[in-house]
Amino acid sequence: MHYATITGWGKCLPPATLTNDDLATFIDTSDEWIKPRTGISQRHISHVNTSELASVAAKRALAAAGIDGSEIDMIILATATPDTLIPNIASTVQANIGANCAAFDINAACSGFLYGVGLASAQIQSGQSKKVLVIGAERLSFFIDWSRRETAVLFGDGAGAVILEATDQPIGVLGYELNNDPAGRDILKSEFGTSMDRFEASSLDFYIEFNGKEIFKRAIAGMGKLSNKVIEKCGIEKDDIDWVIPHQANERIIDTLINRMKIPKEKAIVNIANYGNTSAATIPIAICDALEQGKIKPNQTILSCAFGAGLTSAAALIKW
Ligand code: ACO
Repeated sequence: MHYATITGWGKCLPPATLTNDDLATFIDTSDEWIKPRTGISQRHISHVNTSELASVAAKRALAAAGIDGSEIDMIILATATPDTLIPNIASTVQANIGANCAAFDINAACSGFLYGVGLASAQIQSGQSKKVLVIGAERLSFFIDWSRRETAVLFGDGAGAVILEATDQPIGVLGYELNNDPAGRDILKSEFGTSMDRFEASSLDFYIEFNGKEIFKRAIAGMGKLSNKVIEKCGIEKDDIDWVIPHQANERIIDTLINRMKIPKEKAIVNIANYGNTSAATIPIAICDALEQGKIKPNQTILSCAFGAGLTSAAALIKW
């Protein structure tokens, strides 16, 4: 039996930051509104494409794992904001790291990174791949209508990457659950870049539309359901969980989820204050932050969960 364990990790946050006070200089908002409702203080804004953020994170993950790009046999890049739809931008990362392997993008929105981890682990467990690079990368700032305060304050840019390698030890990805609820397709969407563009000139006004209250409720329900399912499937107790690394869309969503799951708040990794919602990149960035802060230690058990447009949801249990 092969297991898939994380041997390398890296993140890339563009250097420019935009604070809540900066935002208040050009839209009708304030730190007093944003911070208590979302937990966000600032976000990073990229001047380069998603593939460049992804490539830097990938190179750092390779360096941490101590392996060369040529050793990777699959690249899975989760993004909802690719530089191009065709070709996929996993191929740009592939060229930048000198890999010769399968490479593709997936769009499962904010759940994309965990979808990638699930696919990578199945690929490794089956013996088909030995070293898989999974990346979550977004340049959401490019897709935001900066005059709409409802969305402009929520999102940020960034990338995170991990290397999953085969091992015979029972560590790494212990289990995962993936789901999608199409009944929620319309509550979070962006129609820019679709075939609709051909028919509707107005669709060039690209922006993300969503129903925040509905997402709030469904996010807690969706992440809770899949988290419980994967915990049960893996036969572990909630007390055995050392850290929870949830998607960072709103600190109040995380608080409510953790509370309902009866997991102590101190076990949640929360970094939304610094980055905002970076969609598919929030979880790998949070993994990097937790490691840099010396929080995650060998043999600890991590529950990670996410939700996003689709409405996708995902959960994974990882033994470090
Ligand atoms: N600054 C100041 N006022 C604002 C802002 C802003 N940035 N945005 C909205 N408002 C105003 C509204 O106009 C409204 O004013 P009104 O009462 O005079 O009409 C008032 O604040 C309340 O607006 P709501 O949209 O009802 O605010 P709510 O309390 O629902 O908070 C939020 C909005 C933070 C987005 C919340 O719904 C939420 O956290 N949702 C879940 C996360 C989410 O939706 N993320 C984006 C999708 S991406 C993802 O998560 C996968």
